[in-house]
Amino acid sequence: MAQELTRFTFFATLLLTTLLALQLIPTVISHNNAGAPASYNISPLDMWIAHNIKEHEERKPNIAHGPFNRTVLDKALIQAEEGGIKLIKVKKDGGGDFDTLTAAVDSIPFHNKQRVVVWIGGGEYFEKIAINQTKDFVMFYGEPLDMPKIVYNGTAAEFGTVNSATVVVESDYFIAVNIIFVNSAPMPDGNRTGEQAVAMRISGDKAAFHNCKFLGFQDTLCDDRGMHFFKDCYVEGTVDFIFGNGKSLYLNTTIKSVAKNIGVVTAQARETVGDESGFAFLYCNITGEGNSTTYLGRAWKLRPRVIFAYTYMGTIIKSEGWSTDKYPERNGTVYYGEYKCKGPGASLSGRVGYAKILQPVEIIPFLSLTYIHGSNWLLPPPKVEMLNHLLKKTV
Ligand SMILES: *[C@@H]1O[C@H](CO)[C@@H](O)[C@H](O)[C@H]1NC(C)=O
Ligand SMILES: *[C@@H]1O[C@H](CO)[C@@H](O)[C@H](O)[C@H]1NC(C)=O
Ligand SMILES: *[C@@H]1O[C@H](CO)[C@@H](O)[C@H](O)[C@H]1NC(C)=O
Ligand SMILES: *[C@@H]1O[C@H](CO)[C@@H](O)[C@H](O)[C@H]1NC(C)=O
Ligand SMILES: *[C@@H]1O[C@H](CO)[C@@H](O)[C@H](O)[C@H]1NC(C)=O
Ligand SMILES: *[C@@H]1O[C@H](CO)[C@@H](O)[C@H](O)[C@H]1NC(C)=O
Ligand SMILES: *[C@@H]1O[C@H](CO)[C@@H](O)[C@H](O)[C@H]1NC(C)=O
Ligand SMILES: *[C@@H]1O[C@H](CO)[C@@H](O)[C@H](O)[C@H]1NC(C)=O
Repeated sequence: MAQELTRFTFFATLLLTTLLALQLIPTVISHNNAGAPASYNISPLDMWIAHNIKEHEERKPNIAHGPFNRTVLDKALIQAEEGGIKLIKVKKDGGGDFDTLTAAVDSIPFHNKQRVVVWIGGGEYFEKIAINQTKDFVMFYGEPLDMPKIVYNGTAAEFGTVNSATVVVESDYFIAVNIIFVNSAPMPDGNRTGEQAVAMRISGDKAAFHNCKFLGFQDTLCDDRGMHFFKDCYVEGTVDFIFGNGKSLYLNTTIKSVAKNIGVVTAQARETVGDESGFAFLYCNITGEGNSTTYLGRAWKLRPRVIFAYTYMGTIIKSEGWSTDKYPERNGTVYYGEYKCKGPGASLSGRVGYAKILQPVEIIPFLSLTYIHGSNWLLPPPKVEMLNHLLKKTV
């Protein structure tokens, strides 16, 4: 049976936030001090994180300000975290509550109102999983040094593209930490139809992925809809391998194109002027063995919005950068932005005319967690030591 862990409350989470903040903020403070050693080398990313963690730190007083304060955590989330964390252990070879993820997810009640941490032991789980839209507040947690791999080989031919995903999440407040999502269907050779094969589809709102990997070829990661946060992740694929209508921040994430011929990183699916969706990649690294094979994005839908900032682009990126695909007239409706990127693929000399080289004022909305309303829902991942401690207690 799963264990009820009433002590691991919302307030414990706040404590973790504080610890995390303490770990990062002093560096920045000493940097700002006139007396700080000049040799202090702080990456812009650390500063960015520290700045935003401070935003979390401000939550305690904000909560006291009541429900009308826009910077307050969502009430449903506070209640889910305060209600006591339910821990479910999945181990492939027995010794857990379940030996399959399917059974673990099935055990979570519909209309769930409590944080449920599904701790997943190392190894490969060959399963196709869907988390129902009423099962909110689920967290998949793997050990960083023994990351579990969730694998299936669904294809568009068999399931349709979006339902080919190895893991589909339709509920809100999902979190994944240290998980490898894989679609192991063979690399498309262009001779068959329906070879798209999704590793993960996130369709719920307010989801966070920390140190996760997404492996596939065409359509690896379906960032479908809702606000999402990806940090320290790795995404591998060939064509449109980050696609969908999500409004997402990707931070410190490695993007690897394994395209042999033509590759495309993003196919963002925004269609209307009023739609706020868009992918923002900050401090990422685009890599791949190959020379000039891959576009940053293509205009699959009418008004895609994608920006890359402070990102390293390897030789894999084509000098044109972007493509309107089969729709040249979309050069007037796409929003493809770049800001202070570096590396051979970031050279602006061959860029298409409709690529937007952003001004400082234009990049601002994308450089904060406010872009995904993070202060309403984004919590730092739990500390490994804390979860281990809980696991030991429940053995
Ligand atoms: C929200 O909380 C912050 C921090 O406590 C406070 O400065 C701000 O005035 C509050 N806003 C409202 C509308 O109450
Ligand atoms: C989610 O669960 C509800 C309640 O059982 C069911 O009616 C609904 O069809 C499920 N949704 C999906 C997408 O399976
Ligand atoms: C998926 O994997 C199973 C088990 O290895 C295999 O039998 C099946 O043919 C594969 N399907 C596809 C579409 O590759
Ligand atoms: C796919 O087609 C190309 C040429 O049309 C051919 O060279 C290649 O061998 C085919 N691949 C497979 C796996 O049939
Ligand atoms: C960036 O991600 C890598 C893992 O891919 C991690 O080791 C590193 O600490 C991260 N950097 C920051 C500043 O968070
Ligand atoms: C980008 O990622 C590749 C592969 O992990 C790595 O070899 C390279 O050093 C990284 N580049 C930068 C600038 O972070
Ligand atoms: C890479 O491709 C570009 C343009 O296609 C070409 O000019 C360049 O010589 C190539 N570099 C290498 C190392 O192959
Ligand atoms: C957009 O495409 C049209 C042709 O469809 C072309 O005349 C125009 O110069 C293009 N504009 C840019 C900015 O690329």
